[in-house]
Amino acid sequence: MLLTGKVAIVTGAARGIGAATAERFAREGAAVVIADIDIPEAERLAQSLVSAHFTAIAIKTDVSSRADIERLLHTAEERFSKIDILVNNAGIAGRAAPIEEVTDDDWEQMMSIDLRSVFYCCQAIIPHMKAHRYGRIINVASIAGKEGNPNMIPYSTAKAAVIGFTKALAKEVSHDGILVNAVSPAVIETAILEQLTPEQVQYMVNRIPMGRTGKPAEVAALITWLASEEVSFSTGHCFDISGGRATY
Ligand SMILES: NC(=O)c1ccc[n+]([C@@H]2O[C@H](COP(=O)([O-])OP(=O)(O)OC[C@H]3O[C@@H](n4cnc5c(N)ncnc54)[C@H](O)[C@@H]3O)[C@@H](O)[C@H]2O)c1
Repeated sequence: MLLTGKVAIVTGAARGIGAATAERFAREGAAVVIADIDIPEAERLAQSLVSAHFTAIAIKTDVSSRADIERLLHTAEERFSKIDILVNNAGIAGRAAPIEEVTDDDWEQMMSIDLRSVFYCCQAIIPHMKAHRYGRIINVASIAGKEGNPNMIPYSTAKAAVIGFTKALAKEVSHDGILVNAVSPAVIETAILEQLTPEQVQYMVNRIPMGRTGKPAEVAALITWLASEEVSFSTGHCFDISGGRATY
């Protein structure tokens, strides 16, 4: 087991990639905090993990709220005394639209949920991880942040910024026992795709050399490895999981 005795917070873990990650973490021996705005679903997952004799709790969290993030960390720390792993996974795709149709509200919502949340969570947890001289942070970016997807300008911008943020923070804490990495999935079969048009999804799938979509469990496997002590000399990197779409 890769995560025995570790405590992990996974944001946006009520469903999709986050839920697959929370489940895999639990199976690898971690206690898992499922942080999501959708508390009924988060509690359902926590309950099913507890029923299977794993350790999990759900905490209602809007990742765009600094107050919610502070409450999340406080509650998790109180319950488990330490936090070893943070996965910044919560996110939205927004709607597919050309630049002329992007509103200030579209832009603001994207930046606050997909980008500012990563800043809030990392800023809040770094002092804790520094004090324990240990941490693994994994930020879920996107292939859109590496290559840019047309009609997804706010999303591509936010995810590119998450990659830059990851590189900068990793260097800042490189002497503190904290590793910070990102992953950049291509199209993964989750409910997030319902926010886009079928044409937009097809555009993205057509660019995947393996010719298929990815599964949440495949992303969870990469995140689990990055969250483990197996990774000790890699930080500030964005790991690809795109079926060959990105060659860098
Ligand atoms: N599915 C894909 O094709 C794909 C590709 C690349 C990157 N990603 C990224 O992976 C991450 C997870 O996406 P997914 O596909 O599992 O999506 P999803 O829609 O299935 O799950 C997203 C989760 O985030 C939660 N969430 C949304 N807004 C929140 C908020 N303000 N506060 C807290 N929780 C919130 C939702 O309730 C949900 O449980 C996102 O960051 C997404 O951008 C997904």
